[in-house]
Amino acid sequence: MAIDKKIAFLGGGNMAEALIKGMLAAGTITPDRIMVSDISAERLAHLRKTYGIIVLKNNREAIGEPGILVLCVKPQVMEKVLTELGPTVHENTLIISIAAGVTISAIEKALGGPHRVIRVMPNTPALVLAGAAALAPGKNATHADLAAAQAIFSSVGRAVVVEERLMDAVTGLSGSGPAYVFTFIEALADAGVEAGLTRQLALELSAQTVLGAAKMVIETGEHPGKLRDMVTSPGGTTIAGLHALEKGSFRATIMNAVEAATERSKELGK
Ligand SMILES: NC(=O)c1ccc[n+]([C@@H]2O[C@H](COP(=O)([O-])OP(=O)(O)OC[C@H]3O[C@@H](n4cnc5c(N)ncnc54)[C@H](OP(=O)(O)O)[C@@H]3O)[C@@H](O)[C@H]2O)c1
Repeated sequence: MAIDKKIAFLGGGNMAEALIKGMLAAGTITPDRIMVSDISAERLAHLRKTYGIIVLKNNREAIGEPGILVLCVKPQVMEKVLTELGPTVHENTLIISIAAGVTISAIEKALGGPHRVIRVMPNTPALVLAGAAALAPGKNATHADLAAAQAIFSSVGRAVVVEERLMDAVTGLSGSGPAYVFTFIEALADAGVEAGLTRQLALELSAQTVLGAAKMVIETGEHPGKLRDMVTSPGGTTIAGLHALEKGSFRATIMNAVEAATERSKELGK
């Protein structure tokens, strides 16, 4: 879906850049419709030079006309930015926030009107256009708003819609998930080094194996248990490896990790 509104990013850091890059690559929007503000002049110069987008002198310049405002500052800066914008934000402006732990009601309250808000939890693979994002619409957001937000986040990966109460679970799974997978890739490669492979080769094989297995789950739509059974021959090498994983409580450990991150997300959101 092409977006014909203007989009302003408040905060031009890593996530904002990933979204800008993805939308331009996907042809979701043209550079003349993208605006960005940031406290770093260096950052703004980089974004203008790289993507040909419009840079703003301050956050308030972004609220001139109804369109889409994407809040991409760190959660601890969010209150300051929202207070700065306050009730001057037009009620026809769609507000999209990617700040972890900042609730829709906190944003609505800070803006002080019946604003249309969509809260999103993206993840870092968005930087390589392979992100997983969950979108939760606020009570005033329309179907068209949700479609626009989906167009933005689909341009940097996959975008699903959830109720806001599930955002902590999403944070524990796909928000923190890349860190678990990086650890798995590293461990797999360490084992390869121990077995005699060079570090470079071990990492290449390990990362590609994770990518390939993930692609198989997504592209075949098969249950991962079925895909695992397909490569597990009787008395073979894979079942010996799987037995070792079960002895080390591999699955319970992964479930504990997601549970712990979900609980931590709940605590931080209070
Ligand atoms: N990265 C992730 O994986 C991820 C995942 C889920 C959610 N998020 C959320 O995405 C948001 C952005 O994360 P990020 O990784 O892109 O962070 P980031 O790279 O630090 O980007 C934030 C940018 O905002 C700028 N900034 C600070 N104060 C500002 C202000 N008052 N007005 C305008 N700009 C200001 C920062 O400048 P300075 O650097 O000079 O302070 C920085 O360039 C966060 O709220 C985070 O919770 C990120």
